[in-house]
Amino acid sequence: MPENSKLTMDKLVSLCQRRGFIFPSSDIYGGLSGCWDYGPMGIELKRNVMELWWRTIVQQRDDVVGVDTSILMNPKVWEASGHITNFKDPLVECKNCHLRWKADELKENKCPSCGGELTEERMFNTMFKTFVGPVEEDAAVVYLRPETAQGMFVNFQNVVNTTRKRLPFGIAQQGPAFRNEITTGNFIFRSREFQLMEFEYFVKPGTQDQWFEYWVNERFNWYLKLGVKKDHLKLHRKKKEDLAHYAIAGADIEYNFPWGWGELEGIASRGAYDLTQHANASGKSMEYFDDETKEHYIPYVVEPALGVGRAILTFLCDAYDEEPDKDEIRVVFHLHPDLAPIKVAVLPLSRKENLAKYARDVYDTLRPCFTTQYDDTQSIGRRYRRQDELGTPYCVTIDFQSLEDNMATIRERDSMNQIRVPVAALKNTLLAKLAGEDIMVLPEGGKVVEKKQGGND
Ligand code: GAP
Repeated sequence: MPENSKLTMDKLVSLCQRRGFIFPSSDIYGGLSGCWDYGPMGIELKRNVMELWWRTIVQQRDDVVGVDTSILMNPKVWEASGHITNFKDPLVECKNCHLRWKADELKENKCPSCGGELTEERMFNTMFKTFVGPVEEDAAVVYLRPETAQGMFVNFQNVVNTTRKRLPFGIAQQGPAFRNEITTGNFIFRSREFQLMEFEYFVKPGTQDQWFEYWVNERFNWYLKLGVKKDHLKLHRKKKEDLAHYAIAGADIEYNFPWGWGELEGIASRGAYDLTQHANASGKSMEYFDDETKEHYIPYVVEPALGVGRAILTFLCDAYDEEPDKDEIRVVFHLHPDLAPIKVAVLPLSRKENLAKYARDVYDTLRPCFTTQYDDTQSIGRRYRRQDELGTPYCVTIDFQSLEDNMATIRERDSMNQIRVPVAALKNTLLAKLAGEDIMVLPEGGKVVEKKQGGND
């Protein structure tokens, strides 16, 4: 268990629902197992996670380009990739209550729900099927993609020809994936529809092991940079018998979730498997011409793959805290500022017209620079609490004194410290603080007043 054992999944699910992060899908109809909706705060967090990943993997590197390929693909793709034959999980059913279970996750050979006897194991393909066109017949069957990877493999030559990229280089993609999981659970950890973020890093055969280690390291550090505590993460190197059908080596980055260690991200060494399979099945060459050695060969691939939901669950679990505050308990998400759905909340002390107008002007100055929320409901203490539960790093409070001295209070989420700064300095000071610089950017002649430490008012 994380040292933060105050957190239970029940608390997290209820907080996420109460504060508009995540709702059950089709909630008014009782939900749909394994499907979730992101609310107003959840979508901001999700976009931040996806954009941070995209910036790190694609935009800040010269050796990775992005694509966005279709969800439905020619079914021959899934024959060639081996998914029709191999993308299966062992299923058992309880003879008594008829609940179905993934056999390799059961600790005992009886139903975890009622203790009933289980059927023999059979393999169940977890790809969703649907039909293209107006006829529902076998010839029209297509699959909802269970991974985004194949869209990148089948576009390998398109990307090489249009970008002139030389090895080693990667193709990255984010997008929905679908798996008809036998069992779902642990909130958004295992769902039937989820967003994948993955990339295929093509390398010269023989260099795959060093690139595998490089990417394991890079991906591990990504979580640390975004504030996840080091001792809540570990690397699990997979045994040969636990590898997916396409992999020659693999490792999972695991996180210590409230229920125990679980896979956060998988890094697989896929060799030349996928490109070779597609070359054989399509009759099109998947070879690469190496200008340096003048050789033709099929590159090997290293693939880091991460579900957005698992990243979100990790960031939320790791940031959650309950802290004593006077006679109460303060619940707070200490999210990294880059992840926080709202960066700054503007809170006028009263709704009185002159104060509201002043606070609105401050809000209008700040909102082009970062995601800002204006909140004039309830007492100031309750508003601070609300922003703590959303993970908002800074609140800006406008009071009647502000009308006279043009100063406002910045309240920090983590320390609860308050400082009073000139309104003219707010934007640059907050920009600096959000970028991790603990400096004050003051206009000429401006001064800062340290207010009382801590406190929720
Ligand atoms: N292309 C490789 C691939 O898809 P995977 O290990 O099957 O590999 C990659 O999945 C990642 O996708 C996992 O590490 C996990 O983060 C996420 N993931 C897999 N199945 C999921 C599910 N049912 N719900 C949510 N996330 C899932």
